[in-house]
Amino acid sequence: MHITINGLSVHDLGNSEKQTVILIHGFPFDYTMWNSQVRALQNDYNIITYDIRGLGKSYVGDGQYTIEFFVDDLFWLMHELDLGKLGKPVLCGLSMGGYIALRAAERDQSRFNGLILLDTKSDADDDAGKLKRSEGINKINTDGLDKFVDDLIPNLFADESLENMKATVEYISNICKSNNPIGVKGSLLAMAARTSTTKFLKKIEIPTLVMGGSFDKLTPPPVMREMADKIKDSEYAIVPRAGHLSPIENPSYVNDMICGFLKRRIVGKK
Ligand code: MLT
Repeated sequence: MHITINGLSVHDLGNSEKQTVILIHGFPFDYTMWNSQVRALQNDYNIITYDIRGLGKSYVGDGQYTIEFFVDDLFWLMHELDLGKLGKPVLCGLSMGGYIALRAAERDQSRFNGLILLDTKSDADDDAGKLKRSEGINKINTDGLDKFVDDLIPNLFADESLENMKATVEYISNICKSNNPIGVKGSLLAMAARTSTTKFLKKIEIPTLVMGGSFDKLTPPPVMREMADKIKDSEYAIVPRAGHLSPIENPSYVNDMICGFLKRRIVGKK
């Protein structure tokens, strides 16, 4: 079912009697990046996925966003869907979705049964990172969103995927290009201004799965591993033959890991 909540385009899929899993996409995609995970999980889980404010079909507004607003949106959505009713959800985020998931947990981890962090990191942008965001905004203003996306795509996929998954690469590229440039620039500003959640990692008390592509150029395995090491109750996996978009590049591996984690660590928890 498709629902609009506070301007957010939300999809309520799967089995509403079961454990809820909220899937938060990365930048600058939309909820369809989770299609393979939805197919794998929908019989046994209640799946909520949505387009982050400014991206996909969600409300764009003035582009003045922060990660805090994205977390407010998430908490509002959880409230409106009355997600607490059937037990606490598991929060799963990829990259920027992971920044949102980590900050949401830092604000109130007692609202979640578990965390799944994919191809993401807890550190905030350093100065070089902030300057890169600024360059990106400038590029969108001067050369257009298509050029920004064309330059981004090679960093998102493993070289092998760029070569062998051309239709998928084109699909993702088209999703990125179909966004409103105001929303893309607003997301870049939000990411540049985000706080670090690194100190919070050792305070995480809920089961956490940390996983990333073996060839991720943006959040490579050592970054993911270091993060997992700081989380008490974590499991860590490297996704073979995948870059930054591991759930798309190697969906069967990612789905098996997610299903295993949910069955072992989450199902049955209140
Ligand atoms: C993403 O996939 O969400 C982005 O790579 C995040 C970022 O640019 O930091």
